[in-house]
Amino acid sequence: MRKFCSDLEIERKIDSLLRKMTVEEKAGQLNQVGPSPVGGFEISLEEKQKMLAEGKITEEEFDRFLSEEKWDEQEDDIRTGRVGSFLGVRDARRCNHLQKIAVEQSRLGIPLLFGMDVIHGHRTMFPIPLAESCSWDETLFERTAQAAAVEAAADGIHWTFAPMLDIARDARWGRIAEGAGEDPYLASRYAAAKVRGFQGDDLTDPARILACAKHFIAYGAAIGGRDYNSADISLQTLWEVYMPPFIAACESGVATYMAAFNDLNGIPCSVNSYLLQDVLRDKLGFEGLVVSDAGSIWECIAHGVAADRKDAGKQALIAGIAIDMVSRCYLDFVPDMVLSGEIPEERLDEAVRQVLRLKYAKGLFDQPYTDETLEEKVTLCPEHRALARDAARKSMVLLKNNGILPMKKDCKIAVVGELSDIGSEMLGTWTLYGKGEETVTFIDALKTQNISFVYAPCCGVETPLDRQALQAVIIDADVVIAMVGELRDMSGEASSLSYIGLAGDQDEMLRLIKESNKPLVTVLVNGRPMAVGNAVSYSDAVLEAWHGGTETGNAIVDILFGDYNPSARLTTTFPNASGECPIYYNHVSTGRPTSDVRHSCKYIDSPLKPLYPFGYGLSYTTYTYNNLEVKALEDTLEVIVEVMNDGNMAGEETVQLYVQDVLASRARPVRELKGFKKICLQPGELQKVSLSVPVNSLGFYNDSMEYIVEPGEFKIYVGHDSEAELCQSVVL
Ligand code: BGC
Repeated sequence: MRKFCSDLEIERKIDSLLRKMTVEEKAGQLNQVGPSPVGGFEISLEEKQKMLAEGKITEEEFDRFLSEEKWDEQEDDIRTGRVGSFLGVRDARRCNHLQKIAVEQSRLGIPLLFGMDVIHGHRTMFPIPLAESCSWDETLFERTAQAAAVEAAADGIHWTFAPMLDIARDARWGRIAEGAGEDPYLASRYAAAKVRGFQGDDLTDPARILACAKHFIAYGAAIGGRDYNSADISLQTLWEVYMPPFIAACESGVATYMAAFNDLNGIPCSVNSYLLQDVLRDKLGFEGLVVSDAGSIWECIAHGVAADRKDAGKQALIAGIAIDMVSRCYLDFVPDMVLSGEIPEERLDEAVRQVLRLKYAKGLFDQPYTDETLEEKVTLCPEHRALARDAARKSMVLLKNNGILPMKKDCKIAVVGELSDIGSEMLGTWTLYGKGEETVTFIDALKTQNISFVYAPCCGVETPLDRQALQAVIIDADVVIAMVGELRDMSGEASSLSYIGLAGDQDEMLRLIKESNKPLVTVLVNGRPMAVGNAVSYSDAVLEAWHGGTETGNAIVDILFGDYNPSARLTTTFPNASGECPIYYNHVSTGRPTSDVRHSCKYIDSPLKPLYPFGYGLSYTTYTYNNLEVKALEDTLEVIVEVMNDGNMAGEETVQLYVQDVLASRARPVRELKGFKKICLQPGELQKVSLSVPVNSLGFYNDSMEYIVEPGEFKIYVGHDSEAELCQSVVL
């Protein structure tokens, strides 16, 4: 796939359109409107009142909210060319109706773009991105994005605000759920696959949608894991840790980027010309457009870098944001500022050109409408459901198993935990159109698969433990399966937590089951890594099922009863305690490496190792690694290892390769993932696996911000997870 780029013929058409446009019409193209001023959320009355009191919305807007008149119905504004795109409006009929106004009733007939957060599925919900990344399966990343694109496109959507490519090292940050975890290399491969899946090879294909690499950048570095907080990081960390997935997205042809809410080292990303010009345009050669985050332009006033909305709009446009998502700073102020010469018209034209380029690239001038008969055919179709089930089981990580799993279907099973039967809670953050009633819960799945069981909720995330009900339901059981975790709105945007253990009485429920000497299988349903050490110690087996989407229940049953051999591996470190965050495997070597010596880098009240490391995950079989060979060729390292399945079940293993630069002019990470391969092994089968690592990927940025690969010794570790011990040194 090639980079998103301009095309001479299209540029000519844009030139001629630009000549006809008034400054108001130009500003209109940059104006994105949506159902609420803070993005596609439902906002409670209390929140609306608070926004009014804080001056975030006007009396008029407040009244419009109350009368439930939506911003997305600004038909007069479309007619007069004051709207260029929509956020969060779906439904082919509705979109076509609005599109017709733009195409047939506005002076220049420029079509609208409909954008929406299609993050992990549209109506068929796939596992949340963090979960899906644990499959380490690029084909799957691509297929679920494509299926989501098909459903969204049939629903009138042209553009998704995904993939989210923020590296997240702090489990307190709720938005860790939306990305591919903590590793830049894996996240880069994820980025490329997602862009391919959403966009395909031909942007004009009506069954594909434009992708958006977000949030540019370092949003995941929010201090303390507190959403919307500042990111204060070195340029080396920016380029080595946070940039790689955004570079991969650009190289895969991503059409758009979204600027992040946060400031980077003091300059909000929405007005940051270093990021938007020097990095994106000059270094990456990106020719698509950048959209602001919802309201992030006006938030520059709260950041204290813009005097008012006019100033914020001016700074954002000059820095390089083409589309103003919902803050109307462009629409209200840019025309006057251009007429008065405060903003050069060329700057406005450049932004409008980027918007028109996107609309041409998507083919909207030729085919602005959505086929209204499609939605019914593709939405929640059997293929998408089957894919959702496969994606969910490939994403679920088996964390502990003392041999109790897989279970027999004919033992006496008691199921407890309210989450076992609440469909909507399986769907996870950013479920805008997926529905709880269409979701297979664990209880539904047990019933349809004719597995007998008794069930009592006994305890929920917010529902106190009913001890009597618990004793009654488990008394005759051979095995207890407990489903515990987080509600879906406990992760995602604006859902940072200071405590990431199990909430409420859930731990106590597990403790009582353990005390009753019943074998216990715990299933975790959640959106972030959690400090679940107690739950693990009470349980005979623990399955991390995440917010697994529409087919969560079936996938859990497939795994617990051995119809599927678990293969997922963590893409995020699990801490022992909330206070260990941020925690990540690829940290830089310190002068006092972690050890049981007192004066070493550690917490004195926590184990030396995390609860579960990056890359970790069990299977119903075991794999052994032998005979590691590393050859240094001119530009690559060729790595060969023998992997054997020495259990008695076929399974998929993710062979992981880590590198450590042993001696360098800057302290380097203790190890970094530089390659992986997923293989399938029959019982007793041995495979020789080869991986190649470009030597050029082994470098770092020096003090002058030059990327260099320093000669010397490198250690190559290959194995099952980031603690792999099989190692070979190579001198470059
Ligand atoms: C989020 C973005 C999202 C946008 C539009 C914002 O609040 O940060 O990720 O794309 O809303 O819904």
